[in-house]
Amino acid sequence: MTLLVTGGAGFIGSNFVLDWLAQSDEPVVTLDALTYAGNLENLASLQGDARHTFVHGDICDRVLIDRLLAQHRPRAIVHFAAESHVDRSIHGPGAFMRTNIEGTYTLLEAARAFWGSLQGGEREAFRFHHVSTDEVYGSLGSADAAFTETHPYEPNSPYSASKAASDHLVRAWHHTYGLPVVTTNCSNNYGPFHFPEKLIPLMIVNALAGKPLPIYGDGQNVRDWLYVRDHASAIRAVLAGGRLGETYNVGGWNEKTNLEIVHTVCDLLDELHPDAAGSYRRLITYVQDRPGHDRRYAIDARKIERELGWRPAETFETGIRKTVQWYLANADWVAHVQSGAYRDWVARQYGEAAPSP
Ligand code: NAD
Ligand code: DAU
Repeated sequence: MTLLVTGGAGFIGSNFVLDWLAQSDEPVVTLDALTYAGNLENLASLQGDARHTFVHGDICDRVLIDRLLAQHRPRAIVHFAAESHVDRSIHGPGAFMRTNIEGTYTLLEAARAFWGSLQGGEREAFRFHHVSTDEVYGSLGSADAAFTETHPYEPNSPYSASKAASDHLVRAWHHTYGLPVVTTNCSNNYGPFHFPEKLIPLMIVNALAGKPLPIYGDGQNVRDWLYVRDHASAIRAVLAGGRLGETYNVGGWNEKTNLEIVHTVCDLLDELHPDAAGSYRRLITYVQDRPGHDRRYAIDARKIERELGWRPAETFETGIRKTVQWYLANADWVAHVQSGAYRDWVARQYGEAAPSP
């Protein structure tokens, strides 16, 4: 029994791998290309742990994927690997098309060939778990009901369009070839190891550095926030009991405007790390809006709650406090990300190159 986790050195993937190995002795093989968003320091606590194998590689590399599947014979692929930042997708969509669409296609084809070679219990048990986002559903008005699993797909950014395309591929590989897939569409995550280009970690690290806190537009865009370890527990629940071919929306019923989020971060920092210059709120700065900025996301999580009994363990108040405390306690991690030193980790850790398969 082994899991193959793609993108396991990124924010959510690394939290998932750490959470999995904290609860289970089932081994994990992490496959990650270590793009700017991949950081092996996130998995440093697993160093020397025989249950974890790291493989430096690309999900578009079919030969590599075939070799990993044949070698490790995983009972599931949990697919996180993606280009994930909306602003980057606006500046350069190409990488999103390649990894999110072509990469998912490559994995699906490799999984189909591998699953086709399995028999009996191994074939029954195999799962392809596709990790996706609420952004595929588009933008809600303030009075609209939250996204259910049957909401039409209306992606608005190159990122969300590429994720929508990947969701469609996963669906088609189930309907056409019978590949045993499950898909989760989750709302905005936050927590430890979140790369400081995304709203919450950017606000924390900028505030601590006395830099402006840039709010796009009027700050009234709404996101629905979930603590990252609750996303990990939802994936475990769907992997264990999700119905084949189904999608499950994952969210914690925590809609907040961006301004509310930034105020909360400032207030927590004022309490936990006061600045003699005054409240961190003084650093809030309104900047030009993101092109095509989706106004509101909200997840209706009743299906996963009803069918699988999943509930988040954290409220927004407990989760955001833990998150701010984590960033205060992990200044080295932040410094390595900001200086780029985290990219030297592979060389420092393994010598010239990361272990290849
Ligand atoms: P991230 O950007 O932090 O991590 C992505 C990881 O994928 C990195 O480690 C990167 O090195 C790796 N990667 C990128 N291209 C690769 C390739 N070609 N081959 C192998 N590895 C590659 O992203 P995240 O925030 O952890 O998101 C993980 C997944 O969850 C994504 O699929 C994303 O769409 C989805 N998701 C994210 C959120 C969120 O709030 N962050 C919410 C819902 C769903
Ligand atoms: O909803 C799930 C999605 O959440 C995931 O699929 C994406 O991978 C993830 O990056 C995230 O997308 P968002 O665009 O919602 O996240 P981001 O942190 O980039 O922005 C959150 C909100 O904050 C959004 O309305 C834009 C705004 N924002 C963001 C940044 C970086 C600002 O106002 N200022 C900023 O500097």
